[in-house]
Amino acid sequence: MQYAKILGTGSYLPANRVSNDDLAEKVDTSDEWITTRTGIKFRHIAADHEKTSDLAAAAARNALADAGLAAGELDLIIVATSTPDMIFPSTATIVQQKLGIGSSGCPAFDVQAVCAGFMYAVTTADAYIRSGMAKNVLVVGAETFSRILDWSDRATCVLFGDGAGAVVLGASDTPGIIHGKLKADGNYLDLLKTPGQIANGKISGTPFLTMDGPGVFKLAVKMLAKVADEVITEAGFTSDQIDWIVPHQANKRIIESTAKHLGLGMEKVVLTVQEHGNTSAASIPLALDSGIRSGRIQRGQRLLLEGIGGGFAWGAVLLEY
Ligand code: ACO
Repeated sequence: MQYAKILGTGSYLPANRVSNDDLAEKVDTSDEWITTRTGIKFRHIAADHEKTSDLAAAAARNALADAGLAAGELDLIIVATSTPDMIFPSTATIVQQKLGIGSSGCPAFDVQAVCAGFMYAVTTADAYIRSGMAKNVLVVGAETFSRILDWSDRATCVLFGDGAGAVVLGASDTPGIIHGKLKADGNYLDLLKTPGQIANGKISGTPFLTMDGPGVFKLAVKMLAKVADEVITEAGFTSDQIDWIVPHQANKRIIESTAKHLGLGMEKVVLTVQEHGNTSAASIPLALDSGIRSGRIQRGQRLLLEGIGGGFAWGAVLLEY
């Protein structure tokens, strides 16, 4: 059996870095409120001309360079996003075109699982590699959430940011992704959604993100603890054998809760929420790339990736870097 091993990682953040104080000039909020409740200090916002596929392609180029792989050697491209460039085609096919490899015809598709999107995409890529259907897979999480925020709603607009992170996975005899677990429960649909849709040339329903913040918080803490336990146990490990938690970066307090549940200190967590805000499907690969490029995450170490978001959808992946 072949494992899916991380060959390289990359990321891209738009140049416009917005602080909590910058936001406080536009909405009734404060650095103190945002920092205390979420840990967020900054977020990056895409320029008007930047599309999700631009962010994704930039992160992908960095990951390919890190992997030492040419774009034409990819067998599959998966983009996790809830803010695609268009209704169709998929952002993945646009990224394929931007990487200049359209003519190779490798399959390319999006997965949409909001903040759990990267977990869903990586687990899908793992299945392709394990089954022998693909050798080299590009997985990107990319978002321009700034475009679906109501910038007059202080309860949501302060939480999110734009960005992209990417990994190149390659077939390997040694681990690799060890185990992944995905979950979803559509009964929690109303806690977090962007319900707008285009019908007959008009947008019906609000095109902005709406959220029950406290409801999301409670569910996230409960479900992430459970899925983290399950992934570690089912893989035959214990939490003290985890070198790094690389969590979805929504809220520092949610992250602290999961780490505490696993009996791991915050020194074992890659934390980027203060710099990036919540970049939904991009947040885990952005954190992963940050942990690797800063030299904290080393080859051979065991990582737990975990995330949850709208749907609700959630999941965790245990891997050896
Ligand atoms: N600045 C100042 N005050 C604010 C702001 C703001 N940006 N937003 C809300 N408030 C006010 C509210 O109006 C309310 O005021 P009131 O008491 O006078 O009515 C007060 O702050 C408390 O509001 P709550 O919503 O109860 O605040 P809470 O302590 O629950 O924190 C938060 C809100 C940060 C959203 C928290 O619930 C949370 O983090 N939830 C998780 C949400 C999340 O992470 N979502 C991301 C998407 S899902 C995911 O990625 C997991």
